[in-house]
Amino acid sequence: MERVSERRYVIKGGYPLKGVVEVSGAKNAALPAIAATLLAPGEYRLKRVPKVKDVLCMLKILEFLGATWSFEKDALIINTSGINKTSVPYELATQIRASVLFLGALLGAKGEAEVPLPGGCAIGKRPIDLHLKGMEKLGAEISLYHGNLRVKALNLKGCEIVLDFPSVTATENLLMAASVAEGETVIKNAAKEPEVVFLAEVLKSMGAHIKGEGEDTIYVKGKKKLKPAHIEIIPDRIEAGTFLVLGGLLEENELEIKNVNLSYLEVPVSKLREIGVYVEKTGKRSCLVKREKSLKATKIVTAPYPGFPTDLQPIFTVLLTQAQGMSLVVENLFENRFLYVFELNRMGANIKLEDRTAIVNGVTPLFGSPVKATDLRAGAALVLAGLCAENTTTVYNVELIERGYENFVEKLQGLGAKIEVETL
Ligand code: UD1
Repeated sequence: MERVSERRYVIKGGYPLKGVVEVSGAKNAALPAIAATLLAPGEYRLKRVPKVKDVLCMLKILEFLGATWSFEKDALIINTSGINKTSVPYELATQIRASVLFLGALLGAKGEAEVPLPGGCAIGKRPIDLHLKGMEKLGAEISLYHGNLRVKALNLKGCEIVLDFPSVTATENLLMAASVAEGETVIKNAAKEPEVVFLAEVLKSMGAHIKGEGEDTIYVKGKKKLKPAHIEIIPDRIEAGTFLVLGGLLEENELEIKNVNLSYLEVPVSKLREIGVYVEKTGKRSCLVKREKSLKATKIVTAPYPGFPTDLQPIFTVLLTQAQGMSLVVENLFENRFLYVFELNRMGANIKLEDRTAIVNGVTPLFGSPVKATDLRAGAALVLAGLCAENTTTVYNVELIERGYENFVEKLQGLGAKIEVETL
């Protein structure tokens, strides 16, 4: 029999949620920023780093490589002066998909890196061919050594790289390596996600010359020596999107969301309005969200930024079970990102899967059941489903949720949710 996790969330659903919730710094911005600290030895001060499992795992890898780190009152302090290794251990690398970012960072910093093929969420094949092809173009030699990827370059040289697909972490890896390469690198069909733009800004504050971030083509003029910097992590747009959906999930819900950057969420917010959720900006970094009218069905198609984010796909599907009519949810990025649908159907949803499309028929009342998180975002989606379901829902495998959501349970409790953590 398959094992379930030791920790679980027990949720009593159907209670209206009201109040103020503050979004944490973005996990997916913190991870590349932490890797980038390898590029220049010295002390870094990073603000708004979320204390989530993926970040702590990334820091443990950094520590293994020779760095020190500690969380002080309002910042994470990292010192990379003592880096003396270039090989990432299997036990840590396979826990976190973002360990692949050490390839670009170590290659840039030390001219070599050895990283086991990365682990992470079970949402699909997730190859890294584009990362490797780009590094090869920059002059790295790539080999497989006892299951580890080895990249090595005596001299990284600027070049033109055309990505087959605008991969987020491939663009980030190449940005880091190109920042210290000799000459100019042009990355075409680059990813435009806010976290990529943020990494470019971090590298620029370290002295790198980068132009075009946030557009299709990024230009990087390599600089031999970078310097440490102070960094503030941008708000997590996926966590913000999760609370936006929560605001519209029950008729009586009304949330004020703080530390949200709505310009990162234009497509999801326009979808929410189309579905019948009221979203209003109340300040530079805050907004109000509640249900405006009865929810109606829509079509969602995931795509690279600025398209609809795949990470919000499972969360929106929960909302669509409460919308009148037939919704279509098309997943274009990861082939295995619908596993949670079986759990939602056990709670009373009516969702059929056809290839890469989920057909959601609403409105279906949801009822409490034991369910299992299949990946990070699917886990958050099941928590939301539990909060709008009748009776009690128990979500298992919540360690997956804690990889990316900081103080999720406490934040929900602060809004009036009846959710408790139980340990088996
Ligand atoms: C990042 C995010 C993840 C998010 C995803 C898509 C981090 C740490 N993770 O993951 O939360 O879900 O972006 O927004 O930032 N691909 C290839 N070859 C490659 C690389 C990618 O074929 O070498 C394909 C993947 O299989 C997938 C697509 O490209 O179909 C997008 O993946 P990518 O943008 O690379 O996602 P990640 O960077 O892994």
